[in-house]
Amino acid sequence: MGVNQLSRLYGDKPAVDRVSFDVERSEVFGFLGPNGAGKTTTIKMLTTLLQPTSGGANVLGFDLKTEGRKIRERIGVVQQQDSFDQGLNVETSLDIYGLIWNVPRTERKTRIEEVIARFGMEEFRKMPTVDLSAGQRRRVQVAREFIHDMDLLFLDEPTVGLDPIVRRALLDYLKERVHKGLTIFFTTHILEEAEYLCDRIAVINQGRIVQIDTPENLKRRFGSARAVEFKLLQGSSEALASALSSSADVTRLVQDSGTGAYRVTTTRPESVIPEIYRLAERHAVTVSSIYIAETTLEDAFIHMVTDDENGRETERGLG
Ligand SMILES: Nc1ncnc2c1ncn2[C@@H]1O[C@H](COP(=O)(O)OP(=O)(O)OP(=O)(O)O)[C@@H](O)[C@H]1O
Ligand SMILES: [Mg+2]
Repeated sequence: MGVNQLSRLYGDKPAVDRVSFDVERSEVFGFLGPNGAGKTTTIKMLTTLLQPTSGGANVLGFDLKTEGRKIRERIGVVQQQDSFDQGLNVETSLDIYGLIWNVPRTERKTRIEEVIARFGMEEFRKMPTVDLSAGQRRRVQVAREFIHDMDLLFLDEPTVGLDPIVRRALLDYLKERVHKGLTIFFTTHILEEAEYLCDRIAVINQGRIVQIDTPENLKRRFGSARAVEFKLLQGSSEALASALSSSADVTRLVQDSGTGAYRVTTTRPESVIPEIYRLAERHAVTVSSIYIAETTLEDAFIHMVTDDENGRETERGLG
């Protein structure tokens, strides 16, 4: 999929502002951004539910402007808000969805059984969707998309309301499908989940793409320095602390007054750790616990968005 300068205005306010990116085949492409960033608007345009104001896209080899019907035949979409015929029971609802997609009867049966098993929907398969809990309803909504064939799947916050076990089952199921050739366009506010699933991530803020990279690279480029935390059996050691603070690899050293744990901010934990042990020996104290606090994607995300906001402030200030 290739997206080129795609834009959507509401009134004169751009919700999506000249967005360009490519998604490879069999890739999970994450689309992350704060509330109101333009994620859903982008998905609506790429799934032909909403007309772009300008720009275009090639989706699965078809032109977004002129070949909408062909695109709709080859994609799946789970929208952010739910859409159901509330009266039907789960099984019938899944079956009718397959029928709409012209999936043959026997194939529908097989796939319904598969999703019921994979999404743990056994105990409520005969219940009307109207009586389901919010998370159960979300499960049905995501599951039904797998009743039909598709090459590209758009998921707009599919895991909202799912419990951790079902969430993990869904993510693993998605991975399996990607392995077999499915391409996924995915939005979420849960950054651990994005990191678990996505090959690449685009960060969007106020309608504009801020960064596109792998989760690893985003963490490396935008995560803050890492931290090493350790405790001493003896509680504190003035001598060790003052020697460690003056080490070249240590950016900052603080001691938590409550727990007594030392926290070292550093870009090189691999050299700081042996240094801590050396100093402990020299000053006759014992390290009772030590660990590296890793930088998280959430941390990197907050930096990217904050930097972008600050950049805009400066731009406005100068303009
Ligand atoms: N129908 C509409 N009319 C006017 N403005 C709209 C409309 N739909 C969306 N917007 C505005 O467009 C911007 C982008 O909205 P969008 O729903 O794409 O955000 P999002 O990134 O999906 O956010 P969230 O994380 O909350 O789902 C927002 O400022 C929103 O208020
Ligand atoms: Mg949205």
